[in-house]
Amino acid sequence: MTDVRPPVADWATDFDHQHPDYAANATEIWDELRDGCPIAHTNRYGGAWFPTRHEDIAAISKDVVHFSSQGVVVTEERPDIPAPMGYAPPITSDPPFHSIARSIMLKFFSPKAIDAWEPTIRETCRRLIADIKAKIDAGETTIDIAANYSQHIPVSVMADMLGLPRQDGDVFRGFIHNIMEQTGEEPPYEESMDFYLDTHVAKRRSNLGDDLISYLCQADIEGMPLLDEHVRGTIGLLIIAGIDTTWSAIGAGLWHMAQSPKDRDRWTNDPSVQPTALEEILRFYAPVTMARLIAEDIELGGCPMKAGDWTLLPFPAANRDPEAFEQADKFVIDRARNRHSAFGLGIHRCVGSNLARLEVRIAMEEWMAAFPDFELADPDAVTWSTGQVRGPRQLPVLFLG
Ligand code: HEM
Repeated sequence: MTDVRPPVADWATDFDHQHPDYAANATEIWDELRDGCPIAHTNRYGGAWFPTRHEDIAAISKDVVHFSSQGVVVTEERPDIPAPMGYAPPITSDPPFHSIARSIMLKFFSPKAIDAWEPTIRETCRRLIADIKAKIDAGETTIDIAANYSQHIPVSVMADMLGLPRQDGDVFRGFIHNIMEQTGEEPPYEESMDFYLDTHVAKRRSNLGDDLISYLCQADIEGMPLLDEHVRGTIGLLIIAGIDTTWSAIGAGLWHMAQSPKDRDRWTNDPSVQPTALEEILRFYAPVTMARLIAEDIELGGCPMKAGDWTLLPFPAANRDPEAFEQADKFVIDRARNRHSAFGLGIHRCVGSNLARLEVRIAMEEWMAAFPDFELADPDAVTWSTGQVRGPRQLPVLFLG
């Protein structure tokens, strides 16, 4: 797609997180803003703010009175399904409905429920690695490991968990691309995620199983079944929140290892470092930036935030704030104290964090065991997604040794 976004004149007064220059230079932009203009502004998207200090990002995340979750993806329009439920509960819900919608999901995401997925995830990673080895044996020297590895792992877990066909991976990725990278291509209903979900939910209602869609179809709030919009919104949320995010974290971990022989060596020869390495991947390459709609006028850091404005919550920038982390700009593989905010802060903290950690751990363990030595084929050929979920989308590597 050709980019039609106007160039950014000044990141402090005209930022655009959808611009390709942002995807390419995000960390430098955060550092510059944090030192010069810690809460940036833009007139784009009908008015939006962009804080970069951990303290401000935490304060906004925890203030559910002034900052509503009714909208969490910044768009030109404002969301049409109002709080307290919003269009994708619980992420778009405000109190008191939020805790009801969130508690419905917890059964599926407890540590015990998630641990049961370990063999399936490991099997998926090993199958993908076997396919890559077959390509190498057939003479391929450069393999795009975003396309051949990282993107498939969360897709197959989410499909299994929801009881949807694994082969619909491309369909899911199409929905994610349209929603998160705002291609501006609004599909007709028959090609939309709503249509896809309505069709599958209707089928499931007449043939219930033990998957998450069947569970939501049978869940209730004080004896009343969930509204159709609630069921559809939550499933859509899981497809978006469960795939793009983890795919990005795994890809970023591999991107890092491809460029750091020292960290590859430490991972392989000192396995005790692996748990801290995984948390450092999540801190240093945190993929998710959320947003809030300002519900009531408020002044923060001297900035007059008006009801109806957006504010972004760039958790990745909070994770690089030197006020919050020692050597914030360094990847420290054995960082002992690492209270990062990759999974958010406040009441909306990620429900899927146990699953995300499990997927990232197994993906990295299996990859590093199979390919302890690899490097970027061409650093300039690596591409990153734009928008609120940031991760490598093309990652060609060469295998060494
Ligand atoms: C590395 C991977 C992931 C990252 C970095 C991540 C990050 C986040 C963040 C930052 C939030 C907070 C949103 C806010 O404050 O508005 C969030 C919420 C959420 N995430 Fe994740 N996520 C990941 C994977 C997953 C997975 C695998 C699932 C489920 C399959 C999931 C489901 C959710 C849900 C349901 C919420 C909403 C919670 C609520 O509103 O109470 N996430 N995630």
